[in-house]
Amino acid sequence: MNATLIDGKVFAASIREKVAAHVARLQAEHGLTPGLAVVLVGEDPASQVYVRNKGQQTKEVGMASFEHRLAAETSEADLLALIARLNADPSVHGILVQLPVPDHIDEAKVINAIAPEKDVDGFHISNVGLLATGQKSMVPCTPLGCLLMLRDTLGSLSGLNAVVVGRSNIVGKPMAQLLLKESCTVTVAHSRTRDLAGLCRSADILVAAVGRPQMIPGDWVKPGATVIDVGINRIPAPEKGEGKTRLVGDVDFAGAAEVAGAITPVPGGVGPMTIACLLANTVTACCRAND
Ligand code: GUN
Repeated sequence: MNATLIDGKVFAASIREKVAAHVARLQAEHGLTPGLAVVLVGEDPASQVYVRNKGQQTKEVGMASFEHRLAAETSEADLLALIARLNADPSVHGILVQLPVPDHIDEAKVINAIAPEKDVDGFHISNVGLLATGQKSMVPCTPLGCLLMLRDTLGSLSGLNAVVVGRSNIVGKPMAQLLLKESCTVTVAHSRTRDLAGLCRSADILVAAVGRPQMIPGDWVKPGATVIDVGINRIPAPEKGEGKTRLVGDVDFAGAAEVAGAITPVPGGVGPMTIACLLANTVTACCRAND
């Protein structure tokens, strides 16, 4: 392996330390405790793990954690009523509704019911518009984590060619906006992109966020490029025993690490950064609410 490993676990721990210090100061100097409410509708196993981790880490940095676990059959009206209560609750500074929500609930309606200043996911249409126009907003946690790692690895990103593979509202689109703000030349690629291999080979910064295991091979990576792998995919791992699985990214790590200048591993890359940025966004929301 030639590439420098970008260690998301270490980086996330340093963010959590800074958040904890900020929380302690807010308590000591202003009597404020930032509070994060996380809402989970249904029993999706992956979502349950994420929500548990979010609650645990929220408490670890000294913030208040409010967990609302609702049955899968919960009506849209009941969910909207809970959001209205959380919007009005001064002890709640951040609200996150874990996605996906069950099919009978309109996801966009739910996201846009959250008060924009408490929307720590940065998914509300107001925050999307503010980010797109370069104004102060809540920034989505996963792309924010990617940006922090890129800045830490590269310093200035100005003038670099950035290719974002994936056009989701959660990662691909906001990532592209953030890279544009850093003065990168940004291309967003997707399933219909022609000559994806050639495009990826032009990237100084390659962000993979498609959710397809190891779809980007090492020979699509420009020598010396910085590779950020957002994918978290579970695949069979018969070498570990029958029925066993392992996590891989959207990039073939072994192949890409031979060519890249720096690369994030999966697991232990982008993943830990997402929750760390969520905690940081909650502190930001608390500070703005009490400005
Ligand atoms: N589901 C997968 N990723 C996310 C995220 O970043 N925020 C929320 N609310 N749900 C998710």
